[in-house]
Amino acid sequence: MKNKLKGFVEHFKPHKKLFILDFSSAFLMAMIDLVFPIFTRRIIDVELPNKNYKFFLVLIGILIILQIFRAIFAYIVTYYGHKMGVNIRYDMRNKLFRHLQKLSLSYYDNEKTGTIMSRVMGDLEILSELAHHGPEDLFIIVVTFIGSFILMFNLNITLTLVVFTILPFYIYFVVKENKKMKKAFKKYRVVAAEVNSHLEDSIAGIRVVKAFGNEKDSTHKFDKHNKNVADTLMKAFEPISRLTSVTGLYSGGIQILILVLGGSMVIKGEMTIGILVAFLLFVNRFLDPIKRLISFLEMFQQGMVGYERYSEVMAIDPDIKDNKGAIELEDVRGNIKFKDVSFSYDDGEKVLENFNLEIKEGEKVALVGPSGAGKSTICSLLPRFYDVTSGSIEIDGINVKEITQNSLRKNIGIVQQDVYLFHGTIEENIELGKIGASRDEIIKAAEMANALEFINELSEGFDTVVGERGIKLSGGQKQRISIARIFLKNPKILILDEATSALDNQTERYIQESLEKLSEGRTTLTIAHRLTTIKNSDKIVYLDKDGIQEYGTHDVLIENQGKYEKLYRGISG
Ligand SMILES: Nc1ncnc2c1ncn2[C@@H]1O[C@H](COP(=O)(O)OP(=O)(O)OP(=O)(O)O)[C@@H](O)[C@H]1O
Ligand SMILES: [Mg+2]
Repeated sequence: MKNKLKGFVEHFKPHKKLFILDFSSAFLMAMIDLVFPIFTRRIIDVELPNKNYKFFLVLIGILIILQIFRAIFAYIVTYYGHKMGVNIRYDMRNKLFRHLQKLSLSYYDNEKTGTIMSRVMGDLEILSELAHHGPEDLFIIVVTFIGSFILMFNLNITLTLVVFTILPFYIYFVVKENKKMKKAFKKYRVVAAEVNSHLEDSIAGIRVVKAFGNEKDSTHKFDKHNKNVADTLMKAFEPISRLTSVTGLYSGGIQILILVLGGSMVIKGEMTIGILVAFLLFVNRFLDPIKRLISFLEMFQQGMVGYERYSEVMAIDPDIKDNKGAIELEDVRGNIKFKDVSFSYDDGEKVLENFNLEIKEGEKVALVGPSGAGKSTICSLLPRFYDVTSGSIEIDGINVKEITQNSLRKNIGIVQQDVYLFHGTIEENIELGKIGASRDEIIKAAEMANALEFINELSEGFDTVVGERGIKLSGGQKQRISIARIFLKNPKILILDEATSALDNQTERYIQESLEKLSEGRTTLTIAHRLTTIKNSDKIVYLDKDGIQEYGTHDVLIENQGKYEKLYRGISG
């Protein structure tokens, strides 16, 4: 907890000026509030009985001026205090996003999108309120309590002691309820993230839901999550309600106590009426900080739980980091070497064992073999989406671990079956291959990818906005956009992972043509189920669960009459 708080405090440092402005204004406000009962007492006990109109008016005048100042301070506290809170949340969100961009793919393999979203948005939501009100409220509460204790003590010792003796009981109660509240809010955050991720999942998969007519089931599942959220939240309102109710009782009770004790003192002539009124006013001033204390605690719990979840993500180290002294990969020729590579994903089962493969500059190599053999895995190891468990991968004789991730990936172009188009125009989507490319370069790339024709047929051409998932384009069209990206990127090494397998024959031929153009002068690693597309490769590697089984040109492998030959005959009839 201490560390967490320390971490949270760190975030205030860049906003020191706002912090000081907010705090000094809050302090002055609290002071003005404390002065009020003192003035009232003076008026009742001294000026009124003496019919001293002049002083009476002077005191009232001062009170009016103080109230005007108080109003100005209140504005500053609300506006600039919130500004500080909003700024802090802004910083934290940016930091979190930057961190998420750095995290390795293995993190995303294991986290649900909705959960991540609720971390970035939901968990940090309340933090801006906490960042503002938290320290300020705590400060005001302390100042008001200490200030009023001193002032009240000066007016009447007995009465002050009575008021402050029953305070610890109340604080004990608050602390106890507070613990329950924290537990409830923590659980709430978890289930809220669950409902988020269910929502995200069912929207992303809406086509599947509809295709199977599963709307009812999906709604039912959502209802279950939603109900869970509602129930959990209500658990938090139990202690909150008890706190509110007991606080009311406490403040009402204390006022009655003062009236009874103070009143009898007045009757006995031990205390003036002015002091009694001042006490009542002081106690009323208490109510405000006590109310603040409760809303502060509520916010503090929620905010700290959110902060905890924020820190959890921030504490995750990317699995894959640039080595110290990692070099920039420049003037790549495109020699690739897998040396005794073994690899397993987190769950431990070995996907590759002692895998060896050498690809010379400019060579076209195809990987074929049954599903699950590890072909795509090999391709994700080269750009270091995952790190090899043992062995090494070299590009032009340099271990990929010694190269900065950025320059490594700049030199590798990947075309996959599953194309992701971002929400934006076609131009923006192609430009991802080389941020800042000119319109001419983009048109040229589209032309090379055989995409120019269909883009020009669209009513807004390159400015056509494609949906969140590029839903308004056909599979082949999306594929051509992804190829245009690579033309623009112009990498020396190319990975084509079943780039054409989801397309019909006609489109496939069309795309095959642009892929061939793309692979000219580049080292190319192709994975294909349709063996017709890789027949002309320089080398074909047949891979299954036990590793490389066959290796050679198409003609040699056919002559060998091994697994490749069987596969080839099977497919081409
Ligand atoms: N992100 C991942 N996390 C954990 N295991 C994975 C992951 N991706 C793939 N695997 C597992 O690794 C093995 C190899 O998968 P890979 O995708 O490399 O096969 P593939 O040869 O490309 O198959 P296909 O021809 O069907 O595309 C499979 O058993 C798969 O379940
Ligand atoms: Mg695959």
